[in-house]
Amino acid sequence: MTPETTEKPDDEIIEVQDLTVRFGDLAAVDGISFSVRRGEIFGFLGPNGAGKTTTIRTITTIQRMTSGRILVDGFDVDKDYLEVRKRIGIAQQHISLDKHLTVRQNIKQHALLHKIPRSEMDARIDRAVELLGLDEYMDRLVDELSGGWKRKTSIVCSMVHEPEILLLDEPTAGLDTMSRHVLWDLVRTLNGRGTTIFLTTHYMEEAELLCDRVAIMDHGRIVAMGTVDELRDIVGRVTVETTDAEGRTVRRHFADRGSARTFAKSLGDRYYSMRRTTLEDVYLSITGGNLA
Ligand SMILES: Nc1ncnc2c1ncn2[C@@H]1O[C@H](COP(=O)(O)OP(=O)(O)OP(=O)(O)O)[C@@H](O)[C@H]1O
Ligand SMILES: [Mg+2]
Repeated sequence: MTPETTEKPDDEIIEVQDLTVRFGDLAAVDGISFSVRRGEIFGFLGPNGAGKTTTIRTITTIQRMTSGRILVDGFDVDKDYLEVRKRIGIAQQHISLDKHLTVRQNIKQHALLHKIPRSEMDARIDRAVELLGLDEYMDRLVDELSGGWKRKTSIVCSMVHEPEILLLDEPTAGLDTMSRHVLWDLVRTLNGRGTTIFLTTHYMEEAELLCDRVAIMDHGRIVAMGTVDELRDIVGRVTVETTDAEGRTVRRHFADRGSARTFAKSLGDRYYSMRRTTLEDVYLSITGGNLA
């Protein structure tokens, strides 16, 4: 099997072209185009219902598209879905582990699902155990695990066939701070070993820390895309935060500290803070404060 396009740039491992996914009258994904580069961590942000999960499900061949084209490592998700499935792993938004089985049994089930030959099974599972970090959890029932360990197990299950691309739909949703850091380390380790990561998150700090590039989606469309620094430049690198007469938070963004200072002086004796614009500022500015 040869890839759909031979002259594709080497560095684009997922290419989404004019993708639309409709559910009845609703365009959950409304004509989006973007690429994920080989080896990067790409973040998908956006309010509830923006279309993030639908996009991920379509890339991973779970959801059929209405129109458009998606190439994964050069293979068309419509025509060559078996080739696509070999190259991707997905940890879905709603964890789908068998809670009555142990961690080891769950990993084994996924290995069987991906038709990993029995001769390779133990070595693959050993590698997954090493990544998971602690052997002692392997024979625990999933039902007995904390949320963080369930999440981690689900990620390890999704990559037991050692895919080139891992799609993680809200991998840290609802986790405590410590578990979140453990998950970030896992994502970095996988990425350091060459796995391309595509993740969605509602945590701006997470995206800012982990992602090489991010796309912000709203109402089925991509409304901004780039590195965090590029997005900062779009809204202004310096943010002044103050409160209006009714006590509501007001944020203004400026291209440089000079213009921010001029504005701050005009505030008279009102309290304000001046800081580097964060991804959260960018997000709020672009999605109109509709933080999900
Ligand atoms: N199978 C389906 N049938 C009908 N509508 C659907 C289906 N799946 C998703 N939708 C709708 O499509 C829109 C996009 O949903 P999607 O789950 O992709 O959003 P999301 O960005 O992942 O949101 P969240 O941040 O809440 O996970 C929503 O309005 C949702 O209700
Ligand atoms: Mg979702």
